[in-house]
Amino acid sequence: MLLIKNCKVLVNGEFLERSILVGGNGKITKIGVASELKSAADEVIDATGKHALPGAIDVHVHCREPGMTQKEDFLTASKAAVAGGVTTIFDMPNTKPATTTVALLEEKRKLAAAKCIVNYGFHFGATADNLEEIKKVLNIAAVKVYMGSSTGNLLVTDEKALNDIFGSGKRLMAHAENEAMIKANEEKYRGDSDGAKLHLKIRENSAAAKEVERAIAIGRKHGTRLHICHMSTKEETAIVAAAKKDYKLLSCEVAPHHLFLTADSETATKLGNYVKVNPPLRLKEDVAALWKAINEGVVDMIATDHAPHLREEKEQGYWNAPSGVPGLQTMLPLMLDAVNKGRVSLQQLIRLTSENPAAVFGIKGKGKLAVGMDADITLVDMHKEKTIKNDDMLSKCGWTPFDGWKVKGIVAATIVNGNVICSDGEIAEEKIRGKEVMFNGN
Ligand code: NCD
Ligand code: ZN
Ligand code: ZN
Ligand code: ZN
Repeated sequence: MLLIKNCKVLVNGEFLERSILVGGNGKITKIGVASELKSAADEVIDATGKHALPGAIDVHVHCREPGMTQKEDFLTASKAAVAGGVTTIFDMPNTKPATTTVALLEEKRKLAAAKCIVNYGFHFGATADNLEEIKKVLNIAAVKVYMGSSTGNLLVTDEKALNDIFGSGKRLMAHAENEAMIKANEEKYRGDSDGAKLHLKIRENSAAAKEVERAIAIGRKHGTRLHICHMSTKEETAIVAAAKKDYKLLSCEVAPHHLFLTADSETATKLGNYVKVNPPLRLKEDVAALWKAINEGVVDMIATDHAPHLREEKEQGYWNAPSGVPGLQTMLPLMLDAVNKGRVSLQQLIRLTSENPAAVFGIKGKGKLAVGMDADITLVDMHKEKTIKNDDMLSKCGWTPFDGWKVKGIVAATIVNGNVICSDGEIAEEKIRGKEVMFNGN
């Protein structure tokens, strides 16, 4: 039994000082004022002055296993997660081989069970011809469909195939960028070699807007539970906001790099292809639109799209450098800093990183601190400052686009299924494994 004493917990919309008792089964057994909770807990954490948040759930993570373990694996990804206060991750299917059959998912399940120190779930990859597998597969977060090519070889653009996939009855997660526009722009700008700005010209705003409109149109037709990945443009925020008025099964996420970086910033110029990412970093007005969409409740969740690539891969020229940036370990610190700066409230942040991911994906037992829920808890100190450093990154890639950024608001401890896995940035318990999450209706 674990007792977390005197932390601030959200109770009916207000942060109150409470203590949390966790049972031997890894679930919360009681939340109350300290005097009510005299117990025989064998482990006590004094969390005075800290906030206890429901553990962050990141629905978009590339753990790279199997096949790309030079970049990351389930252990290193999950270490980065706990250090960043993330207690549940959903792995993406663009591995080698891609996760497109039930048998391959079973193989991946074994790999995660052996290595992952946080809780986990899986997205299943869609291809133009694996509909039978999609219909058969059980307990997945969603079927991921790449409508627009990105890292890996998953891509479906054919109208009939998309209709079949969207009509499969499964929850869909769409990477929506118009492939024909990207390909035409690649021809047009073939001679250029200018990192983030070139990437923005090739994967222009309208390519994302056009394909998101297409995804929504197909989704509406089939009544699909549709989740839009990494929304990045002002155009998409308008499209999604309008569609959500009557398309209730539509949800979306925004990635931290799109909230904190722009293609024409000094950071992006300095980092060059390190910040080559799909969709690309955008411009100021897009970033402003994303924050506005967060505050208007259009954005359901923050998801990192943690996509680690090695330095030597990133240091190739633009045309060869792979797309993607890491983000698991830095998402909460950046967002806590944003809370301190008044850009979002802490209560909103809880919605964006726990409540909504749990509700949208139908995750059992997670998303809230309440009796009977899993004891996935992130303790944060809103007063402490820290500088984000490449050297502290636990991802195999060993770098972050936010190196040198000073943030106020840090992750003090991360508790997974009632086990204190990480405290003060150090992995305290490496041997305990996370569990596969269970979904309602997928
Ligand atoms: C991702 C990756 O590297 O796997 N890259 C990226 O730029 N976001 C793939 C993806 O999610 O599109
Ligand atoms: Zn993507
Ligand atoms: Zn991704
Ligand atoms: Zn404090």
